[in-house]
Amino acid sequence: MPYYIRLMKMEDTALVSEIDREAFPTMKMPTNFENELNNCLAHYIVACDKKGSGNTNIIGVGGLWILVGEAHIVNIAVQPEYRRQGIGELLLISLIELALEFNCSLITLEVRASNNIAQNLYLKYGFTVRGFRRGYYTDNREDATVMTVDSINKALFSELYIRLKKEYYIKNGCSKIQLSTSL
Ligand SMILES: CC(C)(COP(=O)(O)OP(=O)(O)OC[C@H]1O[C@@H](n2cnc3c(N)ncnc32)[C@H](O)[C@@H]1OP(=O)(O)O)[C@@H](O)C(=O)NCCC(=O)NCCS
Repeated sequence: MPYYIRLMKMEDTALVSEIDREAFPTMKMPTNFENELNNCLAHYIVACDKKGSGNTNIIGVGGLWILVGEAHIVNIAVQPEYRRQGIGELLLISLIELALEFNCSLITLEVRASNNIAQNLYLKYGFTVRGFRRGYYTDNREDATVMTVDSINKALFSELYIRLKKEYYIKNGCSKIQLSTSL
């Protein structure tokens, strides 16, 4: 597989901010990744292209907040020219792995009501729509759709997740997904 995932480092923040701004251009308050790296609740990963070097090969980012047994996905973004190649899915799998490693039972997130692409990704991984936050996004007062997986440590999710991971490995010719930096 031409990509890998690792934990985000301070020297990545400029590039990651660019990816974030490009993915969410209308956000009035872009994520401050320096602050996020100093936030003990936050855990960020980056997807890298094996062809590049240093930290110039970052092509995607994903973030998770862990709060008393609950994981909150705060963002997933892939550079436009790298989309539709399984990188968003790889980031989501890696965030789920992190949530499992932290013994979370629930994963939740907000996504724009109009963002069918991201919702498709989450639906594929067993997230269900739990409700809406009216006017949640301050740029255009768009509603957020709240999506959740309730029991990531229970058989129902595990079976789906293991099957999807296996399909992902076969499709992308990899044997397993591993964060290249341990927690
Ligand atoms: C959402 C996003 C991260 C997906 O990344 P990606 O690398 O293109 O996605 P993948 O190639 O891994 O696709 C995984 C799944 O996402 C869904 N998906 C991705 N692109 C899609 C498209 N153009 N149309 C419909 N579904 C799509 C599908 O369910 C797909 O599974 P499949 O390949 O079995 O059909 C990417 O589009 C992005 O960065 N968007 C801007 C930021 C954003 O909206 N983030 C989500 C915030 S909550």
